[in-house]
Amino acid sequence: MTWFWKLTKVYKLGGRQIQALSDVNLKVKKGEFVSIMGPSGSGKTTLLNILGCLDRPTSGKVVLDGVDVTKVPEGELYKIRRHKVGFVFQNFNLLPYLSAIENVELPMEGTGKSKEEKRRKARELLKLVGLSEREKHRPIRLSSGEQQRVSIARALANNPAIILADEPTGNLDSKTGYEIVKLLSKLSIEQGTTIVMVTHDTSKASLAGRILFLSDGKLLEKEKQGTHQKALTYPSCSREVQ
Ligand SMILES: Nc1ncnc2c1ncn2[C@@H]1O[C@H](COP(=O)(O)OP(=O)(O)O)[C@@H](O)[C@H]1O
Ligand SMILES: [Mg+2]
Repeated sequence: MTWFWKLTKVYKLGGRQIQALSDVNLKVKKGEFVSIMGPSGSGKTTLLNILGCLDRPTSGKVVLDGVDVTKVPEGELYKIRRHKVGFVFQNFNLLPYLSAIENVELPMEGTGKSKEEKRRKARELLKLVGLSEREKHRPIRLSSGEQQRVSIARALANNPAIILADEPTGNLDSKTGYEIVKLLSKLSIEQGTTIVMVTHDTSKASLAGRILFLSDGKLLEKEKQGTHQKALTYPSCSREVQ
């Protein structure tokens, strides 16, 4: 289980304070596919960065796959990131001078796997995302959709508990973007990977099991059946905290 409780984030910029998240509560079950929508500046990236241990909350509790990451010392957070989180970005962030398979192997550096093990795992993942025929290609020789598939395979390299995807279809045409979201959906269903995806696109968001809306740093949930919106409150979550 991954959850937030009373999460707030305040950025200090010069003399100004920017409240990016206020009192956000969220529970994501293992294997769930959640999409987050919201206007620009509503706090979506801040929320993903905190969940992915790239940033710390100002206050509140963050439990990532059962680990209270707010208690993990700064110097140890990289281990949590490496083993529990896979990131997928809008602009793919592949290394241009490495082949597809080398890009997928990269997060496995320093994990104690042999060269052969890394290669076997990367090959398996490229097959999973439908790119077995492209393993030697450098990013420049791949289409945008293929590059995003490589980045999804890379995100899966260390068997993360959760995949965080920040506007993964933002640089793709509509059809390719749809295929990428379908691939994420397949991973959550078939591999039990938990996925939190930020998107601007309602039709893509609706492929997820749940849709959440961020508005001015506050989280609202849209029930999949119907248009009812409610503020998220989790009494059961408060019991867990006590
Ligand atoms: N590093 C930062 N320093 C100061 N303000 C920031 C920083 N990152 C984001 N913000 C501000 O926090 C708010 C939420 O930003 P962000 O999470 O990037 O929103 P979104 O991803 O929904 O567009 C915005 O007002 C943004 O300007
Ligand atoms: Mg953003």
